[in-house]
Amino acid sequence: MRHLIDIKDFSVEEIHRILDLADQMQAAPERYRETQRGRILATLFFEPSTRTRLSFESAMLSLGGSVLGFATADSSSTAKGESLTDTIRTVSCYCDIIAMRHPKEGAPLAGSFKSEVPIINAGDGGHNHPTQTLTDLMTIRREKGRLDSLTVGLCGDLKFGRTVHSLIAAMSRYPGVRFVLISPPELRVPEYVLSGLAARGIPYEEVESMEQVMGDLDILYMTRVQKERFFNEADYIRLKDTYILDTDKMKKARPDLRVLHPLPRVNEIAVQVDLDPRAVYFKQVKNGRYVRMALITRLLEER
Ligand code: CP
Repeated sequence: MRHLIDIKDFSVEEIHRILDLADQMQAAPERYRETQRGRILATLFFEPSTRTRLSFESAMLSLGGSVLGFATADSSSTAKGESLTDTIRTVSCYCDIIAMRHPKEGAPLAGSFKSEVPIINAGDGGHNHPTQTLTDLMTIRREKGRLDSLTVGLCGDLKFGRTVHSLIAAMSRYPGVRFVLISPPELRVPEYVLSGLAARGIPYEEVESMEQVMGDLDILYMTRVQKERFFNEADYIRLKDTYILDTDKMKKARPDLRVLHPLPRVNEIAVQVDLDPRAVYFKQVKNGRYVRMALITRLLEER
């Protein structure tokens, strides 16, 4: 039985098969409408979510399956003190596949040891978010026509940004990819991620100024400074508006730049940028539904 806990659980070839299937599903969704009839997806979300939970539910319903689950920990027996592993063991008796988000790093991995069905990590703390990465890869491949030979800028909260860590892990497997890591010193990419890049000779630079590098980028991946990950509110207030992408900064970028954001956004992208055809974060949202349809299909096939 396969789980998806970390994007590296899938080979590059397996990822491409999922992206190809997602493209086919988006082109002809009616062909897949009944393919998971009788199967049940459980969504166990111990942290807030709009896109990930609802896109998983939309994906399973679009395949003819059913969904059950909870959106907050306090509406489950976790509030009575039940352990995570007992919850997973229980829920896996009621469904065929589980998508799970949890504030603790490693919680989906721990859950996978006790589950009778495939577990999908829908975000674990500040660690990983592999299904967002599948969405990001689908978007980059569609927009740029390739996943190799790209200069990828990642901007904002690179320390706690789980989408950033998973995207670096995925994109660093393609030749010719170079990373430009744009953050204040307090929110730098964790050392374990940087040392992994250095060990494999993958080029990266760390900078503080977004303006300085705008003209170099093929992809700009903006992220939110995440209030919920800070221990100290004063630090959050000091750092939250460090980077605001606006129409003036977009003038410095290449005509073929693509701006992605996993969303939700707060202030880091001005709403006027939404009108720029290079801003593709709402296309990214749409892609998330099809890539999760493809992922559910592949994991259930393997079972
Ligand atoms: N991108 C993402 O994970 O969004 P949600 O927190 O709304 O699920």
